[in-house]
Amino acid sequence: MRAHKLIFLTIVSVVFMSSSAIGQNKTLAQKLTSKETTVDQKVVELLSKMTLEEKIGQMNQYNGFWNVTGPTPSSGDAAHKYEHLRKGYVGSMLNVRGVEEVRAVQKIAVEETRLGIPLIIGFDVIHGYKTLSPIPLAEAASWDLEAIKKSAEIAALEASAAGINWTFAPMVDISRDARWGRVMEGAGEDTYLGSKIAIARVQGFQGEDLSQPNTIAACAKHWAGYGFTESGKDYNTVDVGTSTLNNIIFPPFKATVDAGVKTFMNSFNELNGIPATANAFLQRDVLKDKWKFDGFVVSDWGSMSEMINHGYAENVKHAAELSVKAGSDMDMESYAYVNELANLVKEGKVNEDLINDAASRILKVKFELGLFDNPYKYCDEKREKDIIGSQKINEAVLDVAKKSIVLLKNENNVLPLKKKGQNIAVIGVLANDKTSPLGSWRIAADDNTAVSVLEGLAKYSGNKVTYAKGADVALGEASFPFELEINTTDKSGFEEAKEVAKNADVVIMVLGEHGFQSGEARSRSKIGLPGVQQELLEAVYAVNKNIVLVLNNGRPLTISWADVHIPAIVEGWQLGTQSGHAIAQVLYGDYNPSGKLPMTFPRSVGQVPIYYNYKNTGRPAANEPNSVFWSHYIDESNTPLYAFGHGLSYTSFSYSDLKVNKISDNHVEVSVELKNTGKYKGKEVAQLYIRDLFASVTRPVKELKGFELVELEPNETKTITFQLTERELGFYNNSGDFIVESGDFKVFVGGSSVTELEAKFKL
Ligand code: NOJ
Repeated sequence: MRAHKLIFLTIVSVVFMSSSAIGQNKTLAQKLTSKETTVDQKVVELLSKMTLEEKIGQMNQYNGFWNVTGPTPSSGDAAHKYEHLRKGYVGSMLNVRGVEEVRAVQKIAVEETRLGIPLIIGFDVIHGYKTLSPIPLAEAASWDLEAIKKSAEIAALEASAAGINWTFAPMVDISRDARWGRVMEGAGEDTYLGSKIAIARVQGFQGEDLSQPNTIAACAKHWAGYGFTESGKDYNTVDVGTSTLNNIIFPPFKATVDAGVKTFMNSFNELNGIPATANAFLQRDVLKDKWKFDGFVVSDWGSMSEMINHGYAENVKHAAELSVKAGSDMDMESYAYVNELANLVKEGKVNEDLINDAASRILKVKFELGLFDNPYKYCDEKREKDIIGSQKINEAVLDVAKKSIVLLKNENNVLPLKKKGQNIAVIGVLANDKTSPLGSWRIAADDNTAVSVLEGLAKYSGNKVTYAKGADVALGEASFPFELEINTTDKSGFEEAKEVAKNADVVIMVLGEHGFQSGEARSRSKIGLPGVQQELLEAVYAVNKNIVLVLNNGRPLTISWADVHIPAIVEGWQLGTQSGHAIAQVLYGDYNPSGKLPMTFPRSVGQVPIYYNYKNTGRPAANEPNSVFWSHYIDESNTPLYAFGHGLSYTSFSYSDLKVNKISDNHVEVSVELKNTGKYKGKEVAQLYIRDLFASVTRPVKELKGFELVELEPNETKTITFQLTERELGFYNNSGDFIVESGDFKVFVGGSSVTELEAKFKL
C-alpha cells in the first residue's frame, strides 16, 4: 500500500525540526473565537477574518504521501502540497495516518499558517483501522444493530488513536448487482435494513459526543445512485427511475441525516446526465434544502476533474464552477478549488457567498470535533500504543464476526462437527490464508494478521486435521491499487487434495474470492468460484461427498452446483482479523449461526440484478400451461438460489398464530408466535414484510418493514409484536412526497423473504 516512497520523508523531517514546540500558544483562530459561545458564532467570527484564499483552502483536501486510494493526479507532488499546507490552502488531508504522520501535517496547519486552523484528517475506516471487523456486507448479515454499532464504535476508537478524526463510512449505497465489487462495503439490497444499519454505523462512529477523542465524524456515501451502476461495472453510468431513487436509494441517506451524520461524499456516477458532483438537485435541493443537512459534502476522489471525461465540464476551471454551485463543499484530489475558485470569484462567475457557506460548513465540523480546542487531541502516542490491536478490540471484532456467518445449507446435520475422534481434511488455500480474510479496504491493516481457518480449527484438539492446498486462488502480489492475477490453470495440487480427502470423515473446503476480488474497481462478469476452485470442489467430491463448504467472499456468488451436491455450506465472507476463530466456533457449534443474507444469491449471473422486492409486472405468471408469454427466462428459473433473509441455525424455528390488530386508521399491530422447535439454544431473525396491493405508484411484491433478533431456548416460545405505522405503510410518490394511501395490504412473517405466514388488512 505504501505506494509513494521515501523522497518525501526528507521534507517531512525538515518541517519537524524547524517548527516550534507543539501547541504552546493559542493560534489566531483560537483567540478570535474564544469569546464566542456557540459553534455557529465561532464560525461566523472566524470566517469574517479569513481571506478568500484561506476560505477556499478549507475546501481543499489533499491525499497524503504514502497510500493512494485512487489514481494519482499529475499535479499532486509533495513539495506543492507542503507549500499549500503552509499557506493555509489545505483544509483536510486523507490517507495520512498514525500519530507521527498526522501530527507532522497538523503541526504545519496549526503552527505555520496565519490563522492556525487545524486540518480534519480523513481515512477509509470501512470495517476497522488496523484490527478489522467483517466486511460491511458480512456485518449486515448479522441483522444485529447493536453489534454493528459496536463494530463502528471500536473502529472509531482504534482510528482515532491513530490520529484520524473522520471516516469515509458508512457506504449506504443500496445495490442489487453482485457483479459490482463494492457491494462488500454496503449493507446489501434492502433499503429498510440498510437504513437501520446506516443509523447504527453513524451512531457507532460519532458516539454521543463528537468532541470526545474516541469518536470520529462519519460520512454517508456515495450521494447518489452509485450502487445502481449499469452492468455492475464500477464508475459506470447510472440510469434509475424517480420511484427507485426516492424509495430505494434515498432512504438510507435520509436516515443518516436524521441520525446527525456530519458529512456526505458525492459519487463518481452521473444521474439523469448530470454527474453527482455537479448535481444541484442532489446536493442542494434534496440534501441541503429539503433534508436540512448542515454538515459538508466532500467530492469523491478526483470526481470534479473527471467531469471533463463525462463530457460535462470543459476544463478544470469549469468543473470547479459547476461543483461549487451545485453544493460540493470540499474537493478531494481534483486540485480544482485550490487552483481555480479564487479566480472564478474575482471574475464574478462564482458568488463568494457560496464559498462562505462551504467553508462555514467545514469549519463547523472542525469545531464540533473539538479540533480548535486541541488540534492534537487525536495525537497521543500512548493512546495509540495502548489501543491499537488491544484485546478489547480483538474481542469485539470476534463477536461481530461470529454473528455475521450465515449457514446456507446443512443437510443431514453434517454440522456442527463432532469434537472428538474425527479425521478431518481441510482443503483450499484460503484455509491457510492470513491476509485474504481481511477483505478489501484494509489500508492500515498489515498482511498476515488475520487468524486463518486452520489456526481457528487448531484450537479444537480432539480431531486429527490434515491440510492440502488444492490450488491457489491468486498468483503473485496482491494489492489494493493494482490488478490481481487469478490462477486459472495450475491444478498441480489436486492429487494431494484428493488423497487427503479420500479417507477423511469430513472434508472442510474453504473456497471463494481473494480479499482483493471485491471492493472498489473490482467488478466481475462471472461470479462463480474463481479460477480452478469449482473444478477442485468437483474433484474432491468425486472421492468424498461429505463436504462442508466454507465460502470466503465479498459478494453473493453463483454456487448452484455446490447447492445441489454439497451437504453443508457456510457463508464465511471475509470476516476480518478474527476470521478463523469465528469460523471454527461456528463449525464446532460453540456459536450457533444466526446470520441471514442481506443480499440475494442468484442461480446464475444472467439473473442479476435479482432482488426480493421486485415488481409484479403485468405478466407475473403463465396463464396457461407451457405458455411463453410471461416474465421469465427460457433457460433459468426466476427464483434465487438463496433468498434475501435466508439463513439456517443448528436448531429450528416455527412461526404460528399470525394476528393483525388494527390500532387506528394508520396503525396496525402484527403479532406472531415464534418457537424454538429444535435441540439447541439459538437466535432467529423474525422478519415482517408487507405488500401494498394497489397504489398510485406500483409497489413491490414484498417490502421488509420490521425485524427482530430473538434468542430462544429449546421449546421456548415468544410472541413477537411489530408496529406498522404511516412510516412503514407509506411510500414516496414521483414528486418526492411521502404519502400513505388507503386500501388493501398483505403482511407476511417468517425467517426469510420466502415467508411462511400471511394475513390481510385494510387501511
Ligand atoms: C474513492 C472511493 O470511491 C471512496 O469511497 C473513498 O472514500 C475515496 N476514494 C477515498 O479513498
